[in-house]
Amino acid sequence: MNTLQLSAEKEEDIALAAKLLREGKLVAIPTETVYGLGANGLDEEAVARIFEAKGRPQDNPLILHISEPKELSSICHDIPQTAWLLAEHFWPGPLTMVLPVRDLVPKRTTAGLDTVAVRCPKTEATRRLIALAGVPIAAPSANRSGKPSTTTAAHVLHDMDGRIEAILDGGACEVGVESTIIDLTGARPRLLRPGGITPEQLSALLGEIDIDRAVLGQISNDAVVRAPGMKYKHYAPSAEVYIIQGSSEAAARYIRKRFQSGDAVLCFKEELPLYEGCNPTAYGSRDDALSLSAGLFAALRDLDTPEIKTIYARCPEGGGVAYAVGNRLKKAAAFRTVNAEEEP
Ligand code: TXA
Ligand code: MG
Repeated sequence: MNTLQLSAEKEEDIALAAKLLREGKLVAIPTETVYGLGANGLDEEAVARIFEAKGRPQDNPLILHISEPKELSSICHDIPQTAWLLAEHFWPGPLTMVLPVRDLVPKRTTAGLDTVAVRCPKTEATRRLIALAGVPIAAPSANRSGKPSTTTAAHVLHDMDGRIEAILDGGACEVGVESTIIDLTGARPRLLRPGGITPEQLSALLGEIDIDRAVLGQISNDAVVRAPGMKYKHYAPSAEVYIIQGSSEAAARYIRKRFQSGDAVLCFKEELPLYEGCNPTAYGSRDDALSLSAGLFAALRDLDTPEIKTIYARCPEGGGVAYAVGNRLKKAAAFRTVNAEEEP
């Protein structure tokens, strides 16, 4: 199959992408978080093709993308007031809500759950595309399963060339990590995945929220988890990743002492001078969490070569968007962390 390259800046390309989606084809779509691998979320066969193209386990459900917040009521029932409050504040934007699903959504989309994840993305061309397609668009991140999510059309092409009908190129994704997922079906809202909408923003609106244990640490493969995707080892390059915590100086001392040829360092822009000769890659500025989230997956992709066996990574601490960056990096590192201040 020849993968068409379309531009989100051309109305006729958006219309063509919508037509392809209506016909049950696969189209990669830009969003403010990461690129999505889109198909008609109400068409069982189209959805099946997403799993095939990604090599994704069948028990990992998909997010439905809508063009307007009000479309939520056509795919979910028993929608609590909190959902509308969140929609009012954060949609369109990088927030996904898990709610009870209506019967029109096929089991393949939800992996048989009685809930569905829904998001109204911020990217305008994509919302127009969804409106033109006239159906909710199921879209996981547009990477091969087990690879970092894609944040540019070139990354999508690298993973998906020949496996999907088209890519709508909307440039680089501004947030760069996947959406925040909040489950609203329990007694208390539960954060399943941190992202561009921060825990602080959610708590300011909802009061105290629960944090799912999959966010906090490694989950074994046979564990029962609320977000089925959380149990798979995600976003991991082929190298072993170690997170080195502590001050810039302590971390550099620790890493330089152990660095061997073929290793790599993933650090903050400000730290580059500390790693001369240590194959450093900067993914953003320590003081600008959004620059780190925007750059993280591209950097992990660059470092994902068979030659690199060990990556020493610097990780932001604290809340806000840094919390999401830390979560993704820790997952890539299988939660292996070292505090350089405590090591010789
Ligand atoms: O930013 C994003 O969310 C991107 C863009 C394309 O919108 N999409 C994305 O999709 O990250 P994906 O499939 O890579 O991740 C969706 C996550 C998975 O971990 C999945 O298990 C979880 O959402 N999920 C989907 N439906 C769910 C449900 N009903 N209950 C709990 N978790 C669910
Ligand atoms: Mg994904």
